[in-house]
Amino acid sequence: MKLWQGRFEEESDPVFEKMNRSLGIDAVLLEVDIRASRAHARSLLGCGVLSQEEWKAIDHGLEEILSEYTPDQVKASPYEDIHTFVEATLASKIGAAAGKLHTGRSRNDQVALDLRLYLRREGRAVARRVHELQQVLLQRAEASGEIALPGYTHLQRAQPVLLAHHLLAHFWALARDVDRWRDCLDRADVSPLGAGALAGSSLPLDPESVAAELGFARPFENSLDAVSDRDFVAEALFVAALTQVHLSRIGEEIVLWSTEEFGFMRLADAFATGSSMLPQKKNPDIAELARGKAGRVIGELAGFLATLKSLPLAYNRDLQEDKEPLFDALDTCSLSLSALTGLFASAEFVEEPMTAGADSQLNAATDLAEFLVQTGIPFREAHAIVGALVRQSIERGVPLDELVSNDPRLGPDCLPLLEPGSAVRRRTTPGGGGPEPVAQQLEQATARLEHQRAWLDH
Ligand code: ARG
Repeated sequence: MKLWQGRFEEESDPVFEKMNRSLGIDAVLLEVDIRASRAHARSLLGCGVLSQEEWKAIDHGLEEILSEYTPDQVKASPYEDIHTFVEATLASKIGAAAGKLHTGRSRNDQVALDLRLYLRREGRAVARRVHELQQVLLQRAEASGEIALPGYTHLQRAQPVLLAHHLLAHFWALARDVDRWRDCLDRADVSPLGAGALAGSSLPLDPESVAAELGFARPFENSLDAVSDRDFVAEALFVAALTQVHLSRIGEEIVLWSTEEFGFMRLADAFATGSSMLPQKKNPDIAELARGKAGRVIGELAGFLATLKSLPLAYNRDLQEDKEPLFDALDTCSLSLSALTGLFASAEFVEEPMTAGADSQLNAATDLAEFLVQTGIPFREAHAIVGALVRQSIERGVPLDELVSNDPRLGPDCLPLLEPGSAVRRRTTPGGGGPEPVAQQLEQATARLEHQRAWLDH
């Protein structure tokens, strides 16, 4: 079946058919396409295009299609796209009345509507998965007590922080992702139905009531914009890409932490792989995949922006290229989130190497300099004094505490600064990595999750 028989005489070419067909991809829109069509049918009833009987037949027919087919079954059918499949299947069920459903509507407003409905559901599902990963990070942070590890800059040991602080750093990045999902879904909350192919309709359709019926915040303001706007896809791809970038950074640390060299983390068997050749291996493939898949989602964003670039108003078929990247980005992000959630829930943090690294006397160098600052020495000078002691300690192989104790500007009073656990306890400023601010941060994180949950459950 073709939706344009009248104007055409010749059969279409098989290669044309192949390129033109999108059902293999857009079949997953089955549920939203039917929901949207039922709302449209009700508005056609409202403006007198459909009789009560016709509307009933259409509405029941659509409902039946949904109960009889899964997207996978739909994919196997010979139609061009999901809209054609639904219209043809409806016609085979109820006959001529099906031909009235497309009144005042084009696939251009229909597909934009379907995709917004899809994003509304699936975007929130991804945000829910982000929330679940945050929950596990928070639980692991709460359970980690006062375990400290070296904090790094340039991947060189810098100052110790609590393990909880490190885990929560990722928590806050993910919290911003949830905010971004919410913002992006709010902006996407516009119904394009009623824009028709591009210019609206001569029939007394009411875009506002159909928008309300489908649960949208508002209808479109401009029909040309309504059918050509894919900002919501580009934004969702950006949010997915940034979320995946955050997962790649988490993944990279899991890779590092689970090495023998770091030894901070042991992965559960259920979330690790072995080697086909090397019997001793336990590999962090899930973390690597989460890291690697960031490239793919970034590519989907960049690719789709390139598709949009320079497109004239209004609908152009290029816009059909919105679905593959969107569907894949949401699936990829969602799967990576679930896998990392499971990985974090089951992994073991290994205290001994973390503590050994955290308690290295060199990590307390800044505290020594700050001690000198409190005696009135300018920080630059204090930095140079301590730096020289560190150099001597390394070059001569003398422990730093011995040099500190013998230094007239520092002396034995400073030794408590070098004791195990001291440097991390001294990180006391708000938002810092020591026990006091981290206790506050745990409360803030709990409150943030509550706040997010209110939106996610709404
Ligand atoms: N399959 C198309 C899309 O996804 C919708 C159909 C619009 N086609 C058309 N020739 N106007 O964008």
